[in-house]
Amino acid sequence: MSKRRAAITGVHGWAPDYILTNKELEKMVDTTDEWITTRTGIKERHILKGEGKGTSDIGTEAVKGLLKKTGTSPDEIDLLICATVTPDMAYPATANIISDKVGIKNAFSFDINAACSGFLYSLVTASQFIETGKYKKVIVVGADKMSAVVDYTDRTTCVLFGDAGGAVLLEPSEDGYGIIDSRLYTDGSGRVHLHQKAGGSVKPASHETVDNREHFVYQEGQAVFKFAVTKMADVSVEIMERNNLTSDDIAWLVPHQANLRIIESTARRMGLDKSKVMINIQKYGNTTNGTIPMCLYEWEDRLKKGDNIVLAAFGGGFTWGSIYLKWAYDGDKFAKK
Ligand code: UT7
Repeated sequence: MSKRRAAITGVHGWAPDYILTNKELEKMVDTTDEWITTRTGIKERHILKGEGKGTSDIGTEAVKGLLKKTGTSPDEIDLLICATVTPDMAYPATANIISDKVGIKNAFSFDINAACSGFLYSLVTASQFIETGKYKKVIVVGADKMSAVVDYTDRTTCVLFGDAGGAVLLEPSEDGYGIIDSRLYTDGSGRVHLHQKAGGSVKPASHETVDNREHFVYQEGQAVFKFAVTKMADVSVEIMERNNLTSDDIAWLVPHQANLRIIESTARRMGLDKSKVMINIQKYGNTTNGTIPMCLYEWEDRLKKGDNIVLAAFGGGFTWGSIYLKWAYDGDKFAKK
């Protein structure tokens, strides 16, 4: 029997039906399908339509699907963490709203905001509660309704983002499966390059902030790109070296989907063939906290018990990190119909 670790024992993802294509964006701002495809790899993204719909609705669909497929009752859940930068409201936590909507009543829940690295931060946080033996079933949700904070008159950001989310169930494993190692980093000085200017305590909402379009994503793309492309690769190589993993040992890289060029560069630095890299950015764009669980969900039926998997992300903050885990089940047991 080895150390108690937190293993993912199920994953479910959800994206809204409405698809916003590059062609449609060509009619909204001065852009082209060619520019978006070559600079980012994105072809389309999903958008959550409907009044009164928020991130919790995405998370709720993901958690409902997860509970159903794993045969878990909401009463069994001890803790639910939601990683998001687009909470339904400033407070209470979106995690609480999701818990209420799915009938989780015996758990505590809270949100984590670490921008695009939030799902990794949340997984690592959740895993501590399992490793100590305190809790047995923990759900981590990564979900964002980015369309709520994207300025559809700004071509430099509106082509990048989409809405989606996913959820994983974490349970204890004493057979060597689960989260084995992680490296998480923050550099708060990077905040100047990627943030939302208004709506927080420094600059509360006012007519002026609305008129100045300050409630949207502000990103200096090139500056963020430079950091992202270096840091995501650095931290992925670091986790390989710390765990004596060669590229042959790794079954899958699950990268945050912000830009195809960043993903490819990370894979190259790790010495990984593209066939081992989960890439669905063309279908969803950057869904912030939704990217990594959505990849795990879409690839689930190809994952094998014992697969060595590296998760890697970079996001606003700046935040970045990587996780090394051993997959705990043959994914085809949940084969999608
Ligand atoms: O997930 C969180 C972390 N975020 C990231 O990792 C994003 C990192 N950054 C990026 O992925 C890239 O910087 C972008 C995709 C955002 C932009 O790509 P880029 O190659 O860095 O382009 P750029 O910002 O240097 O802009 C190049 C040109 C500019 O025109 P000029 O100044 O050369 O005339 C832009 O105005 O492309 C122009 N441009 C566009 N043209 C057509 C910017 N956006 C567009 C657009 N369509 N949508």
